[in-house]
Amino acid sequence: MSEWKVICRVEDIPVLGARRVARPAGVAVAVFRNSQDQVFALLDRCPHKGGPLSQGIVFGTSVACPLHNWAIGLDDGCAKSPDEGCVPTFAVKVENGAVHLDAGELATRAIDLLRPVAGPKVLSPIPLPLAGED
Ligand code: FES
Repeated sequence: MSEWKVICRVEDIPVLGARRVARPAGVAVAVFRNSQDQVFALLDRCPHKGGPLSQGIVFGTSVACPLHNWAIGLDDGCAKSPDEGCVPTFAVKVENGAVHLDAGELATRAIDLLRPVAGPKVLSPIPLPLAGED
């Protein structure tokens, strides 16, 4: 049984935009609002290279990732063809204008998926003999 947690009001989410919901563990959840005032929630991590979907542009029932413009379905979290891959979705309930997310999902879903770190790979130091050692 779901334990619903009030997140915000629908009007707190910009039309064709998003808000982020931080979690104790894992990547934040992005809560989107489209032009029809439908509300969707996805992990804020593009299935391509981990871009922040909450900073993308909402159109219809999709969001365009701000990094490489993949279109991700807000209803199923999946990339539109020809791209491939899906991001975890979260259940949303809107009641009397209040947006609710499932507390259990917020605490546990996809907490192992971290955001990729940009930049060159960090190398581990190789132990080298010190001067005077054989
Ligand atoms: S990271 Fe989203 S399209 Fe590349």
